[in-house]
Amino acid sequence: MTQTADRVSPLLRRLGEMVDGGRLAGARALLAAVKSQNGASADAADVEARLLMREGRNADALSLLDAALASAPASACLLARRAEARMQGSDPWGAAADAADAVIIDPACAVTKALLGVSLIEVGRYADAVACLSEAVRQQPTHAAFRSALSTALERGGDSDAAAATLADGIRHVPADTALRTAAIMVEMRRRNFPAAAALGEAARNDGVVDACTFGLLGHALSSLGEHALATEMYCEALKLGPEDPYVRHLVTASGVLPEASRAPSEYLETVFDGYAARFEAHLISLGYRVPGLIRAALLRHLPELQTRGTQALLDLGCGTGLIGVVLSDITIGQLTGVDLSARMLDEAAGKRIYGDLVHAEIEAYLAGTDALWPVVIAADVFCYFGALGKALRLIRDRLEPGGVLVFSVESLQDAAPTESWRLGRLGRYAHTANYLRDVAVASGLEILAVQEDVLRFEGEAPVDGFIVVLRRPYHA
Ligand SMILES: C[S@@+](CC[C@H](N)C(=O)[O-])C[C@H]1O[C@@H](n2cnc3c(N)ncnc32)[C@H](O)[C@@H]1O
Repeated sequence: MTQTADRVSPLLRRLGEMVDGGRLAGARALLAAVKSQNGASADAADVEARLLMREGRNADALSLLDAALASAPASACLLARRAEARMQGSDPWGAAADAADAVIIDPACAVTKALLGVSLIEVGRYADAVACLSEAVRQQPTHAAFRSALSTALERGGDSDAAAATLADGIRHVPADTALRTAAIMVEMRRRNFPAAAALGEAARNDGVVDACTFGLLGHALSSLGEHALATEMYCEALKLGPEDPYVRHLVTASGVLPEASRAPSEYLETVFDGYAARFEAHLISLGYRVPGLIRAALLRHLPELQTRGTQALLDLGCGTGLIGVVLSDITIGQLTGVDLSARMLDEAAGKRIYGDLVHAEIEAYLAGTDALWPVVIAADVFCYFGALGKALRLIRDRLEPGGVLVFSVESLQDAAPTESWRLGRLGRYAHTANYLRDVAVASGLEILAVQEDVLRFEGEAPVDGFIVVLRRPYHA
């Protein structure tokens, strides 16, 4: 090694520590000094790319890495770094290719194998991801992030038992790791094994884990078991630890501890539905979910010409995994657009190849940002995450063609007080009264074609009642 390299390495190491510690301004000043003294090197490019990524300048990091790899194409560390940057830039295929090259060059590196595994999860190659991540875990059994990634690959590949076992083993190796604890509880919540989820949450508490998300999830599990008083206690603990966490806040609000919010926060919904996407349809079938069929029947009742002539376009708000597209697949639809804020739910919908366009967006933001007009808009089982509906209905009205029709479902609020319009339930869903639905429709400039009561699904043996609402934008207004 040259004298220069000897001098540079400790400096670069120091620089790396500053980047990891978030001291970005200091790191940038030191980087300028190192570069002016010693010129470019693969190590310097690597640390500069890390700095750029931490500064949120991913595109600049990628350009820098492309240039550095042109001069050092066999650098495993640069390839691995570009894989990471490509992952951040939503290019999982590019990331997988770079990570695979890096593993070939440096097969002993567990971090690179784990990176390859994570990028393979993103491109849906779960069995390959399991193989890579299992090796990484074998090499570093106490690395919690490797375990979490392995459990994700196993669960997405359909083996939630193995995912749960991987996390349980990880907790034995690293009992203080809160991310492993929450991941383990989430696996059980997603497979609706609430007693197991609650037991994991209790075990975490008993082992001294103090974490807002763990307590929030424990509260959610207890609430799902009907233990509302205990759940409320947990929510309060969670709120003290993470007063700004949107997931915790929504559940705490639902428990009645905080004043009601008029809709569920997007971050909460993304957490819930991204985690739920792979099991969503199996779960809905087990609940006897009837909404898509009821919406189809209502549509055909009010627009019978759909059956023969189809429609130019249809907008499916909160399309999820695309069940509305499936039940309408025999109707000719010029352009079927789905909008959802969960990327994972949209991935599932994309797999069905029914939608012409799938948009990753929040419903109100999407409606406010488009000038397209639709003859038909659907919102199936999504307004149960909205309390007040006025803003969404006004935005939809403006995006309906004159005479265009909106069909949506909501749960009905049982035992409503005379002044009540909607209420947030303990499991984080809102229910509405028929009077409110009629009032808000009219106030939003829509004509009421139907507010029909029906059973939407079952919880245990109990039917969950709701409304299928059909509204029309007046022809002349
Ligand atoms: C219960 S699922 C229903 C999915 C589908 N409509 C169906 O009936 O099968 C609710 C979906 O709405 C999405 N969602 C909820 N609130 C949303 C919002 N404000 N903006 C966009 N999507 C939303 C969720 O991500 C989820 O995919």
